[in-house]
Amino acid sequence: MKAVQFEEYGNPAEVLSCVELPAPGAPAGTEIIVRMEAAPINPADLLMIAGEYAEQPNLPHVAGLEGVGRIEAVGAGVSGFSEGALVVPIPGSTWQERMRLKATDVIPLPEGIDPEQAAMLKVNPATAELLLSDVLKLESGDWVAQNAANSAVGRLLVQLAGERGIHTLDIVRRESAVRSLEDLGADAVLVDEGGPPAAFAERVTEVTGGARIRLGIDAIGGAATDSLAGILADGGVVVNYGLLSGEPCNIHPRHLIYRGVTLRGFWLSEWFQRARPGQVPTLYKRLVSMLAEGKLHVPVAARYPLAQVKEAVEHAGRGGRDGKVLLTC
Ligand SMILES: NC(=O)c1ccc[n+]([C@@H]2O[C@H](COP(=O)([O-])OP(=O)(O)OC[C@H]3O[C@@H](n4cnc5c(N)ncnc54)[C@H](OP(=O)(O)O)[C@@H]3O)[C@@H](O)[C@H]2O)c1
Repeated sequence: MKAVQFEEYGNPAEVLSCVELPAPGAPAGTEIIVRMEAAPINPADLLMIAGEYAEQPNLPHVAGLEGVGRIEAVGAGVSGFSEGALVVPIPGSTWQERMRLKATDVIPLPEGIDPEQAAMLKVNPATAELLLSDVLKLESGDWVAQNAANSAVGRLLVQLAGERGIHTLDIVRRESAVRSLEDLGADAVLVDEGGPPAAFAERVTEVTGGARIRLGIDAIGGAATDSLAGILADGGVVVNYGLLSGEPCNIHPRHLIYRGVTLRGFWLSEWFQRARPGQVPTLYKRLVSMLAEGKLHVPVAARYPLAQVKEAVEHAGRGGRDGKVLLTC
């Protein structure tokens, strides 16, 4: 079977190759074999292949942190799963044609769900939901601000916030991303051109009607962190969850000392470790039903077969995309 693997860390377009690996064979008692259909290329995949992610697996390693597939074979001791059912694997590498999994290690999906949207279920929808619920207790009518708002996480956050009546101030780096966020229900969208912080804060006051923003959601780091801190109410929280700029979070001490703003981080893997029993299935049950109802949607910019992984990762690494790049089997 085809699989995309890397034998050394480095530039994904250089170190990845599509190779032939032995197919997993028949499932043991409590196992299932899943034939993969689609998997997105996320920034975390690119970081992992570059050796810059928190986890650095032994090499060679098959890439891919999430995806979707259909059950092809079911072990004799498995009940409740049938061949052909669509599932999301929880652990394991997804950029390959087949995966051997424990039946308990997949999220089952209802009939009729869009497989491409389901391929993007595990990481970004959960992250967006938890950024809204795990950091501060937000009420309907509250405002949050986020940067890189046209990313998949950003778009999902707009959709999830809208469901709860939470308003979003959405910051992007290019004018061409504004319209699609407004169409999605963003309450206010601003392009951050990197001007003086006071001028940016004035524009924020204008578009939000002077709303008190308690939570700033930062995917970028560098100067963007300070820009978010500067528009928060005193005592507000900046939560950083991404390192898109590759720079350390820059935050002026005046926000920390005089204004009581705090900076913290969020990582989904860390949340999985500390989640209370039942919290993970409850979270995904809600996200799956929203996905099935069409309430969560991420655009797809392009699809590539596994054999064209080099073109695919080059595309995923370029700015100005309007959606995710998917690998398809
Ligand atoms: N902490 C966690 O648990 C967790 C979980 C999931 C995702 N994440 C992180 O969340 C972030 C977004 O992921 P995603 O899958 O939603 O991304 P995505 O859909 O691939 O979109 C990437 C976004 O980043 C923007 N961008 C890229 N480089 C930038 C830069 N230097 N400055 C400003 N904006 C930049 C792009 O803007 P343009 O469209 O203008 O190019 C685009 O909006 C990533 O950093 C990812 O690693 C973290």
